[in-house]
Amino acid sequence: MHIDILTLFPDMVSSFFTSSIMARAVEKGIISYRIVNFRDYAEDRHRTCDDVPYGGGAGMVLKCEPIGRALEEVDAKNRRVIFPTPSGRLFNQEYAQELSREENLVFICGHYEGLDQRIIDTYVDDEISIGDYVLSSGETSSIVIIDAVYRLVEGVIASESLEDESFSNGLLEYPQYTRPERYCTKSVPDVLLSGHHERIATWRDFRMLEKTMLSRPEVLCRASLDLAMRRRLVELINEMKG
Ligand code: ADE
Repeated sequence: MHIDILTLFPDMVSSFFTSSIMARAVEKGIISYRIVNFRDYAEDRHRTCDDVPYGGGAGMVLKCEPIGRALEEVDAKNRRVIFPTPSGRLFNQEYAQELSREENLVFICGHYEGLDQRIIDTYVDDEISIGDYVLSSGETSSIVIIDAVYRLVEGVIASESLEDESFSNGLLEYPQYTRPERYCTKSVPDVLLSGHHERIATWRDFRMLEKTMLSRPEVLCRASLDLAMRRRLVELINEMKG
């Protein structure tokens, strides 16, 4: 997968690509990237990239010309172009899976009050919100989306690691423990020391169910539950009522 990121603040983005799992994916040639500073495509003496909004109002709007030229440079019309914005479609794991199947992605990092609508109409395929809150920069939301997407690309992470994690089966992940068996006054649950794979699997399924029920009950509507899990869910609801 190749990722282009158009930004006014390249330093905010670059360390993400040179650290940790992403750095390894780049080294292995699974991910390639290019950070484009759209200030380099401004043509006036001050390299201006923003201007006041027509019709008045607070803040500044990113201008068409520098961003349009930067988008042409990365062949945006033939690529899936993403503009993170609080007014976009809400991002989730399914959306990340869909984007992970693309060969190329282009991200436009917005700032100030926004981006001239004509750039959105001409180039943007997806306006994406990462949640119902407002961030000060599109760089942070672009990195959140890129992080959720690139790790699903084949070869970046072992597929077993992806299978068990939160949301991959519609439920939140079960709790994990490692050595020592006892920490302060707290012990690892006996079942995890039993070596009994079936009982461990059932215990984990039930913990996932409880965690999802308590933290994100709305997620349960989309989860596929087998009979044992459905029975446990009924028990849980009855326990909560009682
Ligand atoms: N830019 C600022 N806030 C944002 C949000 N919630 N989602 C995506 N991009 C943003």
